Amino acid sequence: MSDGIVFADRLLDLLGGHRVTAALYTAVELGVVESLAAGERTVTEVANECSTHAPSTDRLLIALVALGICQSAGPNRYRLTDMGACLANDANHSLRNWALFEGKMLSRSWMGLADSVRSGRTAAELVGAEGGRYGQMHRDPEAASVFDAAMANMTRLVARDLIAAGDFNSAGRILDVGGGAGTLLIEILRACPTTSGSILDLERCEAAARRAIAAAGMQSRASFLTADFFAGLPAGFDTLLLKNVLHNWDDEHCAVLLANCRSALIDAGRVVIAERFLPPRDSSSRSASTALGDLNMLRGPGGRERTEAAYCELVTSAGLHVAHLFPAGRYDLLIATR
Ligand SMILES: C[S@@+](CC[C@H](N)C(=O)[O-])C[C@H]1O[C@@H](n2cnc3c(N)ncnc32)[C@H](O)[C@@H]1O
Repeated sequence: MSDGIVFADRLLDLLGGHRVTAALYTAVELGVVESLAAGERTVTEVANECSTHAPSTDRLLIALVALGICQSAGPNRYRLTDMGACLANDANHSLRNWALFEGKMLSRSWMGLADSVRSGRTAAELVGAEGGRYGQMHRDPEAASVFDAAMANMTRLVARDLIAAGDFNSAGRILDVGGGAGTLLIEILRACPTTSGSILDLERCEAAARRAIAAAGMQSRASFLTADFFAGLPAGFDTLLLKNVLHNWDDEHCAVLLANCRSALIDAGRVVIAERFLPPRDSSSRSASTALGDLNMLRGPGGRERTEAAYCELVTSAGLHVAHLFPAGRYDLLIATR
């Protein structure tokens, strides 16, 4: 019988989880990852390129080897592993911007998680910030661009699974509601050449979305609409896409947004909701990442992660019909019709 030492041992690793985030963030922020992305380097070369203290850089690199981000390439030489390469800016599935978001913004905000659990209020509410989390971003363009770039990383990573499950080839005009800088819409248009669409989001996303549309050469098929999705949605689209939008909001706000979707939707149209469903409370399946995502919603925008049943309830309460439910890699898709 164990005296608990095995559990205490495991717990120590969990307790130090913030160190992992900080080491990865530091490697990205200081340019260590970009230096190694250009090729194998000695410690001195990395330190020179990054203007860092060489012996301390060596200690960071040793930790990065232990975390599977780097590997030794000979005495005092390092290279990125395949996983570490995903932290580089030009990687196919880059999570560089996500690392900056976790390290720069979320880690700091999560230090106050106890205040949110104590009060049920978000970080923005606790400091009396007008307009909630997105209002704060409107006033802090630097934080907003870190957030938008991180969302673009995450969305690009999961786009292939969402597109495969979502059957967008049968769509005509798609409205990506709360589509940020347009990453998902652009990937869908690329994969489904007969479709066109618009990204609808707040003004702060306009410049990044227009740049992304131009960079993809999609000016003739994609546009950006500045609007508040709680005030109503434009008509004329057969597919309304909501990825990682509903989880930002409480049930009352979701009801308004889904009612707006219903009003704007043409008869044969559909609403495609992409979220990560929480397992039901009585299920044995556990997803730490979705459960922690739920705390992130509590602390950040003030929404919540939901079970499949809770999403179905929201959708039917708004007068929509749940037509299909599909798993889509890390995500789940709920297709609703009128
Ligand atoms: C979590 S992000 C998701 C972005 C994008 N759908 C994705 O998954 O990459 C939520 C988006 O909703 C937008 N948003 C928040 N409130 C909004 C509002 N009232 N009207 C329009 N867009 C809003 C935010 O600006 C943000 O881009």
